[in-house]
Amino acid sequence: MEFKITTVSALKQSSACMILPVYSSGTFSKTTKSMDSVLGGRIKRLVSSGDFGGTPGETMLLTDIPEARPDRILLVGCGDRKSFDTTAYKKALSSAWAAVSGKNHADAACYLSLESVSGADAYRRARLAAEIWHHETYRYTATKSASKDRPGQKYISVAADSRNSQQARKGLTHGDAIGKGMSFCRELGNLPANICTPSYLVKQARLIEKSSKRVSLQVLNESDMKKLGMGALLSVTAGTEEPARLLVLKYTGAASKKPPVVLVGKGITFDSGGISLKPGPAMDEMKYDMGGAASVLGAIHAIAAIAPSINLVVIVPTCENMPSGKATKPGDVVTSMSGLTIEILNTDAEGRLILCDALTYAARFKPSSIVDVATLTGACVIALGKHRSGLLSNSDKLANTLLKSGINADDRAWRLPIAPEYMKQLDSNFADMANIGGREAGTITAACFLSRFTEDENWAHIDIAGTAWRSGKAKGSTGRPVPLLVEFLLNG
Ligand code: BES
Ligand code: MN
Ligand code: ZN
Repeated sequence: MEFKITTVSALKQSSACMILPVYSSGTFSKTTKSMDSVLGGRIKRLVSSGDFGGTPGETMLLTDIPEARPDRILLVGCGDRKSFDTTAYKKALSSAWAAVSGKNHADAACYLSLESVSGADAYRRARLAAEIWHHETYRYTATKSASKDRPGQKYISVAADSRNSQQARKGLTHGDAIGKGMSFCRELGNLPANICTPSYLVKQARLIEKSSKRVSLQVLNESDMKKLGMGALLSVTAGTEEPARLLVLKYTGAASKKPPVVLVGKGITFDSGGISLKPGPAMDEMKYDMGGAASVLGAIHAIAAIAPSINLVVIVPTCENMPSGKATKPGDVVTSMSGLTIEILNTDAEGRLILCDALTYAARFKPSSIVDVATLTGACVIALGKHRSGLLSNSDKLANTLLKSGINADDRAWRLPIAPEYMKQLDSNFADMANIGGREAGTITAACFLSRFTEDENWAHIDIAGTAWRSGKAKGSTGRPVPLLVEFLLNG
């Protein structure tokens, strides 16, 4: 499937299926009005008879329209015209794409993108059209027996005004890349832990490397980690049969002397808790404890496709967290790559242990900033729910840039503090610090722990425990925060 920008007006557009907006007030946009008069007022009659209310997400397919150029018209409810914002626009796109995809219309021409949307210019509107397409059409099939190939479109046209078609074209390209990056991220999060192992992540990283001349991959194994003194990371993998890895993917799009942004993603492919074993219910969901890794891989996947002039390094420490006779025990003290010693009071606080060594390693790239992404704490789900990611940083400037990126990409984060009074909760009688800080402020003390390893860097931490995954009926990976990360890399 390919995306195109079309600057042809609805009146002159031929298409197997034209997508038109209808607001709930009964008012029509210019496009819909023009098509309605070609149809002799058919849309107006549907509205006044109450057959089509224009409520958000409502759709109706009009067929048999010889008087118009397109073969069919899909009406899409957009709700109140005055409150047509990014959220309402995304909802309209979702229902349009859900109605169109899977049908065997050869193409579709979407005119929702011509509407004015508060908070979204032509670039954003086109970008969201492509992004939402991928979000809506992604299906998990990898471990289900033969699912039918769905029919589909050869191409999708997204309407833009000729005055800003260049911006729209750019938005469409970016949205396509971000959407694919999100699907890539979701697939990794959804795959079970018996398939998505650390070595599977290496294979996926190889595919990204192969997709672009600007990307190169380096893989460290456990003996490399030992030589580097990564005692914290190695303590987490001690109880498992699956070998641990540390992946380093470099994207070079600018002069090599330009400092890169480093993204670090937590890659625990299964978190049983280790000796501090988790309770049984919903433990299956801990296969997505590599959601941070999946999102930074999704981000570089998108960046490789967009090919901007930036430098980026993606680091993924990855292993399982399992109990066994060889597993790390509560009370064990380990030495991290930085030299700081850690008393492991709870083996279920493993994410920070693999991240701290990866963060120390990240400094060798002399980065402009380091951002780590991790499904780090259950406390973050309690604090912010599934709507916003937790953001913690030692730099106000970096934190504000990331918050802004989240707003612009509609993939929001919310900042929590890092402060000395919380740091005390990590005091240990037997090491430089403990790996847990008690029940209170769990997201903050986890970030305080990480901050001890990034003192000389511009660093931020994004806790995605709540945002990367949906529980319940729609159980599965969301692809967040790929949009935030790509926004930050492109415009941050
Ligand atoms: N991977 C979990 C955090 C998590 C919990 C992510 C729920 C998504 C949903 C992490 O490794 C963990 O177990 N954290 C502990 C830390 C505690 C032992 C200090 C937690 O949040 O309970
Ligand atoms: Mn854990
Ligand atoms: Zn974990």
